[in-house]
Amino acid sequence: MAKEFSFEEIKKYNDKKCTWIVINNDVYDVTPFLDQHPGGEEVLLEQAGKDATEAFEDVGHSSDAREKMKSFKVGTLVASERKPEQPKKSAVDWKETGESSDSSLKSWVIPIALGLVATLIYRLYFMS
Ligand code: HEM
Repeated sequence: MAKEFSFEEIKKYNDKKCTWIVINNDVYDVTPFLDQHPGGEEVLLEQAGKDATEAFEDVGHSSDAREKMKSFKVGTLVASERKPEQPKKSAVDWKETGESSDSSLKSWVIPIALGLVATLIYRLYFMS
């Protein structure tokens, strides 16, 4: 079974001597990879000791990169700190998320605005 780590522990490995990052709930020791990373060591050091899932997925790493990262895996996050796996980003996902949050906002704002307008009209009517 893979060894489990918590962020309490992972955040200690946040410098050049020891660089750990978390991607999709798995913990990677990328120290030996720092000077080989095609994206440079800076970006890895910036994420050191943290959850780098979003940064990693934003770059759209190749399947080669995903294959390579397996060799740096040292364990997984403890169950209580795991996040639901992020779906790989695509234009369609973005569009769908945008639309659903948009319409859920409208479903609140419109009835409330209508209620306020109705109350105003009612009060004006009976106060005049
Ligand atoms: C174990 C983890 C990682 C591995 C094995 C890895 C590997 C690679 C590889 C092989 C490439 C070349 C392009 C490709 O094949 O996709 C690449 C590019 C890149 N990586 Fe990573 N990477 C890792 C983590 C990260 C993280 C956490 C970031 C955070 C920002 C990052 C940022 C980048 C950037 C910006 C490039 C683009 C370089 C360019 O196109 O000029 N990588 N990485």
